[in-house]
Amino acid sequence: MAKDTPQTFYLKDYTPFGYDVESVHLTFRLAPETTRVLSKIRFAPKPDAADKTFFLHGEELKLISAKLDGQEVTPELADGGLKCEVPSAPFTWEAEVEINPAGNTALEGLYMSNRMYCTQCEAEGFRKITYYPDRPDVMSTFTVRIEGDEPVMLSNGNPMGQGEGWAEWHDPWPKPAYLFALVAGDLVNHPGSFTTKSGKEVELNIWVRPGDEGKCAFGMETLKKSMKWDEDVYGLEYDLELFNIVAVDDFNMGAMENKGLNIFNSSCVLASPETSTDANFERIEAIIAHEYFHNWTGNRITCRDWFQLCLKEGLTVFRDAQFTADMRSEPVKRIDDVITLRARQFPEDNGPLAHPPRPEAFQEINNFYTATVYEKGAEVIGMLKRLVGDDNYYKALQLYFERHDGQACTIEDWLKVFEDATGRDLSQFKLWYSQAGTPRVKVSEDYADGTYTLTFEQSTPPTPGQPDKAPRVIPMAVGLLSPNGDEVRGTQVLELTDAKQSFTFDGLASKPVPSILREFSAPVILERETTNAERAFLLAHDTDPFNRWEAGNALAKETRVAMVLDGAAPDAAYLDALEKLVRDDEQDPAFRALVLSPPSQADIAQTLHERGYTPDPQKIYDAAETFTQTLAQQLETSLPRLYAATTVEGPYAPDAESAGKRALNGRILSLLTRLDGGEQAARQYASADNMTQQYAALGALMKAEKGEVQSQAFFDQWQDDRLVMDKWFALQIACAAPEKTAATAAALTKHPLFDMKNPNRFRAVFGALAGNHAGFHHASGEGYQLLAENLIALDSLNPQTTARMCAAFQTWKRYDAGRQSLIRAQLSRIAGTEGLSRDTNEMVTRILDA
Ligand code: PHE
Ligand code: ZN
Repeated sequence: MAKDTPQTFYLKDYTPFGYDVESVHLTFRLAPETTRVLSKIRFAPKPDAADKTFFLHGEELKLISAKLDGQEVTPELADGGLKCEVPSAPFTWEAEVEINPAGNTALEGLYMSNRMYCTQCEAEGFRKITYYPDRPDVMSTFTVRIEGDEPVMLSNGNPMGQGEGWAEWHDPWPKPAYLFALVAGDLVNHPGSFTTKSGKEVELNIWVRPGDEGKCAFGMETLKKSMKWDEDVYGLEYDLELFNIVAVDDFNMGAMENKGLNIFNSSCVLASPETSTDANFERIEAIIAHEYFHNWTGNRITCRDWFQLCLKEGLTVFRDAQFTADMRSEPVKRIDDVITLRARQFPEDNGPLAHPPRPEAFQEINNFYTATVYEKGAEVIGMLKRLVGDDNYYKALQLYFERHDGQACTIEDWLKVFEDATGRDLSQFKLWYSQAGTPRVKVSEDYADGTYTLTFEQSTPPTPGQPDKAPRVIPMAVGLLSPNGDEVRGTQVLELTDAKQSFTFDGLASKPVPSILREFSAPVILERETTNAERAFLLAHDTDPFNRWEAGNALAKETRVAMVLDGAAPDAAYLDALEKLVRDDEQDPAFRALVLSPPSQADIAQTLHERGYTPDPQKIYDAAETFTQTLAQQLETSLPRLYAATTVEGPYAPDAESAGKRALNGRILSLLTRLDGGEQAARQYASADNMTQQYAALGALMKAEKGEVQSQAFFDQWQDDRLVMDKWFALQIACAAPEKTAATAAALTKHPLFDMKNPNRFRAVFGALAGNHAGFHHASGEGYQLLAENLIALDSLNPQTTARMCAAFQTWKRYDAGRQSLIRAQLSRIAGTEGLSRDTNEMVTRILDA
């Protein structure tokens, strides 16, 4: 399937479609290889339209017939769609097309997963279902008839009727085609219901394959909690009689917010204590909430074009983070999010793939479902909220829903709402949406005669296409502590607007210790000369839990960097501080688990790179091993007691408190395993009645190369459970020593249960490979080669997942010349593959252009 020369689309070229779509009627005659789709669409020319071209998108469609107002016509088939001469008055377009769901391995459009029909239309998948103006600013009501012999046949909106071999659906809310969905198959439902605040009864269902019924209860409870939360916090009520969620095994992303018919990767909805870890439960909770929240932020108010993607995604991620913070622990959620931001968004923002939260050009929009659009998009909203204050934030949001309900909007619309609600000028703030790159903020301080001065200098390194950057508005949350540990100034938000700016604090009896960027109030990199003594002081005394963790994290990085660069021993003062904290039962176990989790090796590599060094992955690995071993020895006498004290007794429950305790317990177990030869882990493995403890024990054993028996037992026990098998695949690669990582992954690709076509399985193997820093970057280059070979093989089947995984190479310029040339060779090999998809071509080209 050779793609023609790549076309680039630009934000500045936006033009509205020349026609309104008044209604859409679709009939599906389902057949695995020859599904017929009949469309009947009412179009009305817009009187004031500048461009009256009647172009309908369409890809991989076999056109059987087309009619205008009942008369057969022969449209001109063009690249990516068709053109047709149409009347200047309203008219009815009818088309019949044939598509092949069973042959659709790209998982976009209508495809089959385990004999079940399902769709994925975001961003531009609807054009693989029928000819249509497949753009988010074209909104219409959809009426859908499904004909087939599947026991369950679902679409968006409310059911209108069903009989032997057919079902009809109508969605009264106008929506863009990317929110269309259809599901048909042998499914069973886990039912529920919710009464909205105005007293409307909503029927809820989670639809799964027979056998998975027992894994729906948690998802259902979460859905109800999300519905209630959105009413309580944002005043937003659900707007249909029915809300369906369907679990599918083959899915490119996490889940999809189709109106009234959310479709989920089964890994993001199915949960049971025996098969899911605490981390799985938390992720499922967040994703169910996220998709539900899209009903207002995404569906009722959608995007004008795909450049505005962060309008719905940044806001919805922000909302789901608020939800998780409310359901669990606010500081722990914040720390987790910052860890993820630094692990996923910072490398993107500081490498060849850097782009602003609102990009200005793309070849393939699927390549812009990124950490920058999602996570940085959410950070930008967090900053906005901090700048205007909570009351103004909710006032602005109410205005947003009032003013724009039913519309397809832009970032300009969004900011205007805040300007109108608060009277604030947001033109400088808007730079966060148009400038890429992570700002560096250099901090210096001065103290004289009771006055303390903080000076901030901001700058952002060049990013592709953006050599120079203007200063941005940066909300800098700061507090001051006195040397005895009391807080002398509570948190205050300083607004940085200039390249260099100072702030003074008067009336201070002695030089304070500053706590800067509390709660991580802006997605920036702070540069400040400070001492380990001061970091240890903040770790012990800061009143802001985020910054307490951050101080510990900085200490961990400093000692690991010193170990790598100077061959230093682990910092004794830091080890003491850790020991004190771990043993402090007053502290939240989840927080202690976080402090006890060392920065990842990739994070150390990133830190070294930021400081101008070339990271050596093997040395970073060795330092990590030495550090953990030393920590284990330091804690030796207390580990058994700590292990016992943090073991959660009684039946498993996924709540935050017990999950936090188990997280700490898992950390203790992994340290203990370094000293006791795996005895405790083997006991835990044998007695575990939940996946969190079983998996923690298995991981600890495998890391110590003592888990062979348990790994086999795990396989025997779970081989019929796809999601658990993904864990089994991933864990072996994650735990492998650097020199064995690529070989382990290669062997697993030969395993009978390896399935290239299942994105979860592919990601289990290759996500784990790319995530094993020292293994992937092993000097042999085997990791690079294995990934490249498999990306090439996957590309012809599933371009979207292939392209996403190319990002594993985005940091290549950080490494030494030898590794760079090994990676370049693999990237060039991918780039040179004949018939490479537009998706993958765009990604490797951008990465290579670094
Ligand atoms: N819109 C989905 C979400 O954020 C993500 C998604 C994008 C899913 C593209 C499928 C395809 O919830
Ligand atoms: Zn989303």
